[in-house]
Amino acid sequence: MERIIVTPGHRLNGEVRASGSKNSALPILASTILTEEECRVTRCPDISDVDNTVQILRYLGCEAEFSSGTVTVKADCIEKSDIPYSLMEQMRSSIIFLGAMLARLGRAEISMPGGCDLGPRPIDVHISSLKKMGAEFVEYGGFLYGEAQQLRGAYIHLPFPSVGATENIMLAAVTAVGETVISNAAKEPEIADLAQMLTKMGARIEGAGGDVIKIVGVKRLYGAEHEIIPDRIEAVTLIAAAMITGGKVTVTGIVPEHIKAVADVLETAGVRISTGESFVTADAPKRLKAVPRIVTAPYPGFPTDCQPMLTAMLSVADGVTLVSEQVFQSRFKYVNELYRMGADIYVEDRTAIVLGNSRLTGARVTATDLRAGAALVIAALASTGKTEIDDIYHIARGYENIDGKLRTLGADIKMK
Ligand code: EPZ
Repeated sequence: MERIIVTPGHRLNGEVRASGSKNSALPILASTILTEEECRVTRCPDISDVDNTVQILRYLGCEAEFSSGTVTVKADCIEKSDIPYSLMEQMRSSIIFLGAMLARLGRAEISMPGGCDLGPRPIDVHISSLKKMGAEFVEYGGFLYGEAQQLRGAYIHLPFPSVGATENIMLAAVTAVGETVISNAAKEPEIADLAQMLTKMGARIEGAGGDVIKIVGVKRLYGAEHEIIPDRIEAVTLIAAAMITGGKVTVTGIVPEHIKAVADVLETAGVRISTGESFVTADAPKRLKAVPRIVTAPYPGFPTDCQPMLTAMLSVADGVTLVSEQVFQSRFKYVNELYRMGADIYVEDRTAIVLGNSRLTGARVTATDLRAGAALVIAALASTGKTEIDDIYHIARGYENIDGKLRTLGADIKMK
């Protein structure tokens, strides 16, 4: 099994371009089964989650090709309406096919997504919302069987702004009969990006990116071409990596507004941030300062996906930072691995107490999930001594050529 070897001692400086967003590519690729015409999705990151999604499209019977960042899909003859356990277990976010399969096929059979290192990953809100649109479900033997002769528009108020549930409702609603209103909708940039793609396909959607999304169902959708938005979480990962080494980095090809909440935290830590239309430059202070409090929240709040990377970065800052994880039940498992690298971090329930001033030392550690793996790489860059990171398939799931990008900035990092 491949692992990442990081040899520290290098300040990371330079310019690097962000890839397309993993969390936008997945629902947009699922949307391509809503039409029989060809769709082309560009700026897809070359990551295993996209590969898995292409495999699911092929398994369902679509023609699907992924080359040099473009996924081309033609879903004119879908033969299957199930996603096998083997494909689901590799990627729990395959749940994003549920709404589109019910809309296109009238039925869906998928294995219940298991938990992961962020805690249980329930889909109760997805199911209750789709039931309001006329779908019926049976859960049996770890599988979810869904049926919907004809989906109907509905008024759906989400108990909290679930990203995946918002996306599944949108994918089910665009060809449902009548109007769907989603209130308390997720506002992440990936929601607006999905709406962009669906609108290009002929859907009637307004309000995506805000609290209330209105969708009027149409009879059919058409082929479209769409470029995925940049990956805001990758951009933050690259910045945190440069900042912990005292460097200066410009990340290009991004939407600065998408990382505003994180930029504010970085400035509190003493980072000098400058932005242009499609880039952000971050220049580290001599010594990072602690940030009194970071609280994760749905967009436009501080993104939970950036919590592990900023916690790792602030483990060497001067002072104490409290990091409160309010989106996932347990997203601090990676702290055990950082602790083995000498990070002075203690977790009480859903808050990490980052004491700061840690003297990090290289160690053999294990990535427990995508962002945890990124946090370990960041800590390794500022340690004394080499770090070896196992189970890096987690990192490959969501980061395109992250080692190559970090090497461009001067890091001594290699896959082995
Ligand atoms: C999406 O997950 C992202 N994944 C996650 O990114 C991200 O952390 C999350 O949104 C929050 O921004 C993709 O887009 C593929 P949620 P999702 O539904 O849709 C609970 C990464 O690292 N919940 O907004 O699963 C859930 O357990 C990944 O790229 C229910 O209880 O997030 C969580 O505690 C990690 N019932 C909270 O809500 C439900 O039916 C937020 O989940 C659905 C969710």
